[in-house]
Parts: sequence; structure tokens; C-alpha cells
Amino acid sequence: MDTAAQTRVLDEAVYQYSTLTAADQLERLTKVVSFGVLGAIAGDHVREFEQQVAGHLGRQGAVATSSASAALELLLRCLPQREAAERVVIPEVCWISVPAAVLRSGRTPVIAPATSDLTPHWEQIEPLLDARTTVVILAHMRGRPAPDTQRIADELAQRGITFIEDCAQAWGVTLDKQPVGRHGLAAVFSTETHKLVATGEGGVIAADDSQLLHALRAVGGNTRIALPENACGRGNDRMSEITAASALPQLIHLDVLQQTLRPLQDKLIDRFQDLSEVRRVLPTMVGESPNLGTDASNGSLVGVWLPTSRHANRVADRLFRLGVRHWWPGPGDPHLAENWPSTPTTTTRCVADMACYLDIQVPVLDESQHPAFLDLLRSALRLDDNESESA
Ligand SMILES: Cc1ncc(COP(=O)(O)O)c(C=O)c1O
Repeated sequence: MDTAAQTRVLDEAVYQYSTLTAADQLERLTKVVSFGVLGAIAGDHVREFEQQVAGHLGRQGAVATSSASAALELLLRCLPQREAAERVVIPEVCWISVPAAVLRSGRTPVIAPATSDLTPHWEQIEPLLDARTTVVILAHMRGRPAPDTQRIADELAQRGITFIEDCAQAWGVTLDKQPVGRHGLAAVFSTETHKLVATGEGGVIAADDSQLLHALRAVGGNTRIALPENACGRGNDRMSEITAASALPQLIHLDVLQQTLRPLQDKLIDRFQDLSEVRRVLPTMVGESPNLGTDASNGSLVGVWLPTSRHANRVADRLFRLGVRHWWPGPGDPHLAENWPSTPTTTTRCVADMACYLDIQVPVLDESQHPAFLDLLRSALRLDDNESESA
């Protein structure tokens, strides 16, 4: 394939999905800015965003925040400390601010190893539980559900351990045909730049317990609400009206976006499955693996497991030079527990070598350009004979 054709296809690829609803966002933003109704506490857009999120998830309510990190910190701050030295199990692959939120709440993070779907299963979590474990956080990674969520939620409920879903990367992700974020005490989502609902920064917590929702609002900075008796002060974790005005059209457009992404995602999976270099493709085709099919993913990514970390590094390098959006968790990546400061690591062995994993973002691209994009990706994943020998 000639270089000019490659450049053309990438010129037309839309990676920043938020731009697709720019007109609707601008209409709302113009109103917010020109009427000067900026206050989040009484703001219409924040309230509407919270209602839409709760309705979409089937939760009682939601509280919009300045980021998912702030949401997690606020949530942990609002949970009563039951033990003197509480432990919180968190996944080995999530984001560096997750252990920080646990530490700031006065608890100790304990790391549960990730399997090849990038999440721990009950088998990885159960051995870590003891009398001091009061909370488990599970993250749905890379636009796919954590496949063992239901079992983990059930087992923890039996033991009286609080379960929190980290859905920062999981807008539009489903499990058993329902959106993720419905299990356990609460779920947090992010609206950071690279998410499917992207406002630069932002987050939201969804929950069912009205006392908890009240505490989150009060402690998070809604000064019109009385602080609960044992709350340790009031901070400011609020989402702004401007952020909510930008988020709303994207949330409303989420289904359409996913339907737009799916055909190219399917074709990429099909192509990658045929490559001898690729050990496993995620998500799988519908029906191939329970809870990991394309219909459960949000359509935005295709992940591959490659034979060696050198191979993955080479492919990542090529994609970077081409300008194809991708993620390779190489050395120092802040998603990996090995790179989190002052986090005690567990003795449990890692189940997967994350440096062999790589995922590629599915752009919004006219169907006529799909063949060119697929050829480009297919050749980027292949190693020539010289490279194969050294990889
Ligand atoms: C799994 C996960 N959890 C939490 C966060 C934190 O989100 P935020 O950037 O909104 O604070 C991220 C951010 O990307 C994430 O990927």
C-alpha cells in the first residue's frame, strides 16, 4: 500500500469522538456562558447529567465530580472506617490515582493480579481477603467488562465486603446485556479526554443508597445540604456546569457512537485473528467467550496479545510513527501496579505479562476507507523475517 493512501486514511480517521457532538455541546455551552449560570450547586446541566447517568445505569442517583479520581477519594472518605487497619483490594491494572485514593482515605491497598483479560477474577481476589479487608475495587478495563464481576459481587456480598466498580474506562460497556456500574455499593466513571464521554476532566459516582448519595453531595461541596454527623469536613469535588454541558450531548449520543464503531471493530478482530503473530484478540467475536464478546465491549478498542514484549514494543513503535492511536503498557506505565509508588505488592504471582499486550483504538472512519485502514494495521502487526528472529 502506498504512503499517500496511508496518510489519507489516517487524515480522515476521527479519534477524538467528542468532536462528533461539537455542535450540540456548543449550543449548550453558549447558553451556560452567555447567561452566566455557572454555579454547579444549583445548575441545570449538572443535575441533568446526574439524572441521565443514574437513569442509564438503573441506579437511584448519581453525583457529578471533578474527576474519577476525585470521585473515588470522595467515596472512600464517605465510607465509615470499620477497622483500625482496613485493607482495600484493588486490581493490578487500573490507574495510579486508585491506590492514592485508598492511601489518602487511611486504608492500605492490596493488589489483585490481572489475568489475560486485564482484570482479576474471583480466584485472584479470594486469597487476598482477610478480616481487615473491607472494600474491593474492580476496574473494567479497555472498553470491556471485567468478566467475573457478577461472581465477585455475589461472593463479596456474602462476606459483607463493600464492592466498588471502577468504570472510568467503561462508558457503554455491558455485562449480561446491562450496563456495567450496577453492581455493589457504587460505581465511578471518568469524562477525561480519552474516554467515550470526554470533557477534558470530570467524573461521576452512581449509587443506590440515598444516605450515601446525600453524604457524597454534602462532603463533596454542596453547601446547601447538611453535613452528616460523623463527616470529617466538606471539600470541593464538584463538576462545573460547563463540564456537564459538554458531557450531556455525548452521553445522549453514546449508543449511536457505539453502533458507528462496531463494524470496523468487527473487521479488525477478524483480520487480527488470522495473523500467526497474534496469540489472542480481545474482545472476541460474539458468543465465543462469555462476557468478552464485541457486543459487551463499547466498540472503541481491539486488544491483542503478542508472543513477546519486544514484538509488542516494535508494533507500538510503528503505530506511534504512523499516528495510529494505541496503548502499549510498556515500562513505567501508570496503569500498572509495578509503577505505583509506596504501594505494598502482593506475593501472589502475576498471571499475565502485560508488556505483551497492546490495543488499538477504533476510529470513526467512512466505510470506504475501512479496507485501507485494515491493511495498514495488518502490516503494522506483522514482523518481517529479520524482526521475527530478534523479537
Ligand atoms: C481505570 C481508571 N480508574 C480511574 C481513573 C481516573 O480517572 P480521572 O482521570 O477522571 O481521574 C482512570 C483514568 O484514566 C482509569 O483509567
